[in-house]
Amino acid sequence: MTLVDAAIEARNNAHAPYSHFLVGAALEDRDGRVFKGCNVENATYGLSVCAERVAVWKAVSEGARQFQRIAVVADTTVLTPPCGACRQILWEFCGDIEVTLANLHGQSEIMRLKNLFPRPFDASYI
Ligand code: THU
Repeated sequence: MTLVDAAIEARNNAHAPYSHFLVGAALEDRDGRVFKGCNVENATYGLSVCAERVAVWKAVSEGARQFQRIAVVADTTVLTPPCGACRQILWEFCGDIEVTLANLHGQSEIMRLKNLFPRPFDASYI
């Protein structure tokens, strides 16, 4: 199964009764382990969590620390990128990883996080 397929599978579990915008993510660590995430919304809206962060939380809580790739899938013609908060969290745990944006129609684009998030604030400033 490709990483995009894993993200599509994760997307099927999205809990998005408020936005109806379903997102899946699949994060692969350097050992080839894949951690899947979907967006999980809440009636307060603000407590909703994006698919990417769910994948990162799952991976980190399982002890994974080194990552190589993430795929993000939504059902949009213009491919959906991670939101700003997710870019910050991805940078914190994954650094300049490969980011694949994809949709359900076989379209995809491969980027580096650094290009999506060119001037991050991170531990190097502290
Ligand atoms: N969302 C994600 O899960 N990932 C993204 O990359 C963009 C946005 C979610 C958050 C919310 O549940 C819904 O999509 C609409 O913003």
